Amino acid sequence: MADFVGAVDQGTTSTRFMIFDRSGAEVARGQVEHRQILPRSGWVEHDPIELYENTRKTMEAALASAGLTASDLATIGITNQRESVVLWERATGRPLHNVIGWQDTRTAELVTSIGHAAEIREITGLPPATYFSATKIRWLLDQDPSLRVRAARGEILAGTVDTWLLWNLTGGDVFATDVTNASRTQLMSLETLTWDPRLLALFGIPAEMLPEIRSSSAHFGTATNGVPIEAVIGDQQAALFGQTCFDPGDAKATYGTGNFILLNTGGTPVRSTHGLLTTVAYRNGDEPPVYALEGSIAATGAAIQWLRDQAGFFDDAAQSETLAGSVEDSGGVVFVPAFSGLFAPYWRPDARGAILGLSRFHTAAHITRAALEAICYQTRDVVDAMALDAGTPLSKLRVDGGITANALCMQLQADILGVPVIRPAVAETTALGAAYAAGLTAGFWASTDELRANWRESRRWQTTWPADRRDQGHTRWKAAVERTFGLGD
Ligand code: G3P
Repeated sequence: MADFVGAVDQGTTSTRFMIFDRSGAEVARGQVEHRQILPRSGWVEHDPIELYENTRKTMEAALASAGLTASDLATIGITNQRESVVLWERATGRPLHNVIGWQDTRTAELVTSIGHAAEIREITGLPPATYFSATKIRWLLDQDPSLRVRAARGEILAGTVDTWLLWNLTGGDVFATDVTNASRTQLMSLETLTWDPRLLALFGIPAEMLPEIRSSSAHFGTATNGVPIEAVIGDQQAALFGQTCFDPGDAKATYGTGNFILLNTGGTPVRSTHGLLTTVAYRNGDEPPVYALEGSIAATGAAIQWLRDQAGFFDDAAQSETLAGSVEDSGGVVFVPAFSGLFAPYWRPDARGAILGLSRFHTAAHITRAALEAICYQTRDVVDAMALDAGTPLSKLRVDGGITANALCMQLQADILGVPVIRPAVAETTALGAAYAAGLTAGFWASTDELRANWRESRRWQTTWPADRRDQGHTRWKAAVERTFGLGD
């Protein structure tokens, strides 16, 4: 068998292809950013052709940089930004529109007019929100009445980004998705793991246009370069997999543009009463599915990007650590980066960003520190909700993603949560998770125990704040959050 496993990681801002060896160590990577197409306020699109071309380019670049060829890869996994959708023509493979991204809020009115909140939540584990795919597909179908007719004849296909890439990588052979991606469309039943006819009727989406739902670790097909594709898994679930959070009670937080905190709840879908999502964590082959509670936060690292790009406070996100570290604290400033409303646990599409508590004394350093604190307080909001839903508090949090390189932010996170924060040796946990899931199908790795044995800690941050400081800060944060409600449309 070949010695390496590859993973496509098609994310919100960039596409990567990563190659790992048997110990789970990175051998090579290719990475390229794509355009963020922002036609109007609240609209976020990507060019589907660009995403596919970047997938091929990064795969070739990673292989070339390691002096490898496709035949050195035993298998490939695909992981992807979730919820974002593409419509294309079956006969030609031609996309009918740009990808509508998960952050896109154009369907806000549609969400309200469709209603049926309790029923949708009961079947899917998700509250009605613009975040999920269902209203995005509906919006696309509503643009041209002939589309729905053609979709019902199976001539127009709808897919999340995994399905689009899988279709193209296999030369149009395979039209499938996995349970984790399907669970984010808001069209799949959490119990049956199939498209739910009541929801299809409610959203007005023909079943004929939707892909087959398979396990996350499963044989999906063979890429045109001859490599088998043996896993498809949404990026946040992949990060949970890469962190080897295989036991109920294991949790991870991935820090990117937004933050996504997932808690493994085992074979039972735990219904949230505190603003979290119930979702499928993964399904390996014919084994029963594993579920998770998820807290999705729309904007965390986005606050640092905003300070860099819009406010011009620094040129490089890494400089935020030095700038924020030049002051003792935020001097009472609170920055709520509710750029696309607030997701978990608030679900307030009408919230908008605010910087509160300013006086002439404050500087860019205080505001930057407040942005780092916002990342940590938003995570605390979700971790508190998880403790209430799951009935037990977290004892530690495994972290990954860009901002985990910022030691000040991770120290603040441990201080604000009151539990140790642990970063693994492999920071690219998302791609690693997809590689692991594919490698399990291929028999490259024998079991999840073997994967667990690969996990290595690189750094741990312990809490230094007393409980009253942590709680006072959180109370002040929550008061600021409430001030942002109603600032948007
Ligand atoms: O739910 C959205 C999430 O999958 C996006 O993740 O890392 O591509 O921003 P990321």
